[in-house]
Amino acid sequence: MLANFKQTFFYVPIDFGMTKITPQPSLVSDLKKFGQEHLLAFWDKLSSDQQSSLEQQLSEIDFAQIDGLSRGTEESPDWAAMAIHAQSPPAIALGEHPSGFTLAEATKAGEQSLAEGKLAMILAAGGQGTRLGFDQPKGLFEIGPLSSRTLFEMQIDRLKALMKRYGHAIPLYIMTSPATDEETRNYFESVNWLGLDKENVQIFCQGTMPAVDAKTGKILMSATHQVALSPNGHGGMLAALHKNGCLQAARSKGVEHFFYCQIDNPMVSVCDPTLIGSHLLTKSQITTQVVRKRFALEKVGNVVAVDGRVRIIEYSDLPASAAELTNADGSLRLWAGNIAVHLFELEFLASMLDQVEALPFHRAFKSVAFVRPDGEFEKPTEPNAHKFERFIFDLLPMAERSLVVEGDAAEVFAPVKNADGAPTDTPAATKQAISALHRQWLQSAGVLVADGIKVEIHPAWALDANEVKGKILSGTTISSDTYFLDQQFK
Ligand code: UD1
Repeated sequence: MLANFKQTFFYVPIDFGMTKITPQPSLVSDLKKFGQEHLLAFWDKLSSDQQSSLEQQLSEIDFAQIDGLSRGTEESPDWAAMAIHAQSPPAIALGEHPSGFTLAEATKAGEQSLAEGKLAMILAAGGQGTRLGFDQPKGLFEIGPLSSRTLFEMQIDRLKALMKRYGHAIPLYIMTSPATDEETRNYFESVNWLGLDKENVQIFCQGTMPAVDAKTGKILMSATHQVALSPNGHGGMLAALHKNGCLQAARSKGVEHFFYCQIDNPMVSVCDPTLIGSHLLTKSQITTQVVRKRFALEKVGNVVAVDGRVRIIEYSDLPASAAELTNADGSLRLWAGNIAVHLFELEFLASMLDQVEALPFHRAFKSVAFVRPDGEFEKPTEPNAHKFERFIFDLLPMAERSLVVEGDAAEVFAPVKNADGAPTDTPAATKQAISALHRQWLQSAGVLVADGIKVEIHPAWALDANEVKGKILSGTTISSDTYFLDQQFK
């Protein structure tokens, strides 16, 4: 089903027929060679500014690469074959003691590194939130069950509370994409950087890749002078960190490791000291926090071991037959779901800069609006295009030392992916999960929380269950919706 939007003629410039630019001959011959001449179909109708802009966009495209990717001839791992050999990854399982150190020792090591300023945070916020049906950057989506704090606030409030607790700044690097960059910057200006020291926040923009028509392999245009570009996946992060000087800036601040997470999960235990300490004590180059998958085909990446190396097989690349394999006791063989929480050793990332091009592209089948040959704009309601993305976690098998740590989903994972009404990962489910966790923290401090009411704890009041114990008297009864903020209950 296709809806037409008659906005074509907005793009017809007033200097119709008067333009002087002719496209570069090498570009024209490339377009011809790879069957992409249609990209210049509206050339004569464009203003000279639009012509320059289009020429610039086209000059940045590697047509041979797009050709290989859309035909599927570009070399990429055979995920299905890999899935056959995939094993459960070696992991520190929930409630298990790691070998070589205690969890208390890990927490202490993590706390020390936070106090010494050796950690920075990378927040991936470049996605477009299409499934959620929210047309602003996802980070601006309000999710606090009582506070209506945004996804950005939920994670940054925790970051600020950690900085206060450990007495050291934690620099924050926010990755946007061209689709979210400007609005994200405006948001941070308008909310006074959410109280962060501006010196310690850097917003950097990831790159893009053209989307192609799935049937013909032709590159789509979003306007008569614009190629339909999509974010190049969070695998674009490495090149973008480098290009924007973030690695060097972090290094000069004494940072040695990055805590990485995605904007769509407000329950991320941001810079969790025990996770950081486990990463440090095992000298891991990439650490991944996982949760036990709720069901075989859950839309999470599968953290597995193949030929002795840990890697992630994305849900879209994993055949159902492999996802559904079970152990003798009926549990899932591939149980470890990626929640996109990683720790990266800075020098490992830096050493991987020359491997950026070695990261494979993953092909996704998505709906992409485009300009038809007759100049009409179409907004498909069903997938029509292939988008190409690189994933940062494809660095995993290149690491000599990696670590997988299991977390409890009820404590660390409630992503906002789909609009309310969908079966899973909705705003309503996330709000409920946040409230349930905070209820549990209160109850473990001996507080009586009446059934059916909502509670929400701001990290400035308490960062975890232990801190709650020092804030409120055991035996206190909470009988109406309550937002625990600042010093309210001290
Ligand atoms: C992602 C993971 C999946 C994991 C799940 C957990 C990938 C490829 N897959 O799946 O393994 O189990 O989250 O919730 O990451 N983003 C960018 N730039 C991009 C693309 C995405 O910054 O180019 C950010 C988005 O802002 C978003 C997040 O990454 O917050 C997740 O991206 P999305 O494409 O929604 O991944 P999922 O399919 O949910």
